Amino acid sequence: MNVLVIGGGGREHALAWKLAQSPKVQRVYLAPGNGGTALDDRLKNLPITDMAVLRDWALEHKIALTVVGPEGPLAAGVVDDFRAHGLRVFGPTQAAAQLESSKAFSKAFMQRHGIPTAHFAVFSDPAAAHAHLEATGAPIVVKADGLAAGKGVVVASTLAEAHAAVDFMLADGAFGSAPAGGEARVVIEEFLQGEEASFIVLCDGKNVLPLATSQDHKRLQDGDAGPNTGGMGAYSPAPIVTPEVHARAMREVILPTVRGMEKDGIPFTGFLYAGLMIDAQGKVKTLEFNCRMGDPETQPIMARLKTDWLDVLWAATEPVGAAGLADLELQWDRRTALGVVLAAHGYPQTPRAGDAIQGIPTETEDLVVFHAGTRLHDGVLQTSGGRVLCVTALADSVRLAQARAYEAVHQIQFDGMQFRTDIGFRAVKA
Ligand code: AMP
Ligand code: GLY
Repeated sequence: MNVLVIGGGGREHALAWKLAQSPKVQRVYLAPGNGGTALDDRLKNLPITDMAVLRDWALEHKIALTVVGPEGPLAAGVVDDFRAHGLRVFGPTQAAAQLESSKAFSKAFMQRHGIPTAHFAVFSDPAAAHAHLEATGAPIVVKADGLAAGKGVVVASTLAEAHAAVDFMLADGAFGSAPAGGEARVVIEEFLQGEEASFIVLCDGKNVLPLATSQDHKRLQDGDAGPNTGGMGAYSPAPIVTPEVHARAMREVILPTVRGMEKDGIPFTGFLYAGLMIDAQGKVKTLEFNCRMGDPETQPIMARLKTDWLDVLWAATEPVGAAGLADLELQWDRRTALGVVLAAHGYPQTPRAGDAIQGIPTETEDLVVFHAGTRLHDGVLQTSGGRVLCVTALADSVRLAQARAYEAVHQIQFDGMQFRTDIGFRAVKA
């Protein structure tokens, strides 16, 4: 069969790479894909970004299954539209995607269903928000309500920073935080301490199948310093997610979420990603929900997956009433996978495009370089986005996976290349 992956980042390259390994898959199309997916002859890029045009293309080309990578098309209702036209698609409906696309929705949902999360309050009136900040004090966290491509969260260590964040996020038209033409809102919440992990599961509307655990590094610089980014590297498994923490996350966060969505009449299908804060006692709180896979977490997770990915996504998109994901078990490579992101000059504020990329090592059994912000320009591979590549290695320990990944990183060159030298440091045993 022919399948389609929507998106063009590192996450989508990894999803497509894994799908292409299925003997049932003839061709994986990506819309729009990137320079790396253009170079792989099992994959094919489609220069289509309009979702209605893509849906008609998928109908015409008898696409058997579509997987949606990024949150944008999900929040815009691509799954509803593909389904309405009889296409098989894995992802949440527009209503279910609000778990990610509206912080106010997801916080109210968690409160209603008793899912552990930071205490919070929602404001659209700046004066009330400022007064609340004065009453609670710093450190405190200010979040824009709508999708903000990673720029909507300010972890403020001083009240001055928190006040500035409120002004910025609630100022008229200054910031795209108003969901679908609504009023701009901010969520102000309690600052949580601990270590973060990404807990990602597949849902078919009823059953839940957890993926391998993972952790990413959101800060730009070594030692988790500097500005927040989409993610500078990730690894799987995440040792912080012990079997006890895993059981707790399933019991207290994931299952009540899936049941709660069902009860609220908006069953969740697709990838559900809970960003967890795990404290010293192993208690978990939900920082956020994403309704998609993580990027770059997908890259190490896919590198470890042994089960036929088409079979899994096929089961996950069975009609209601079928077995779905109920009887499925995933097989994982026992090794650690670790991915180091190579970012463009100027990332995250103003990434530069057009730098020629050289020295990407060929794929081996323990190394694969997933592309993100790359393009082919007159046959030359160039940077075209903030996060350019994710160099992903497999080895018997975090330390060895680090060594293997960085050995490959040092072969790759482009002007302005930025990367962290310590991906996985929290998981390296002394
Ligand atoms: P979010 O998009 O809500 O996950 O926020 C992005 C990042 O901000 C998270 O990955 C955390 O590092 C940080 N963050 C968000 N909420 C909190 C909180 N309540 N306490 C501490 N850090 C937070
Ligand atoms: N790596 C974090 C995310 O995908 O949101």
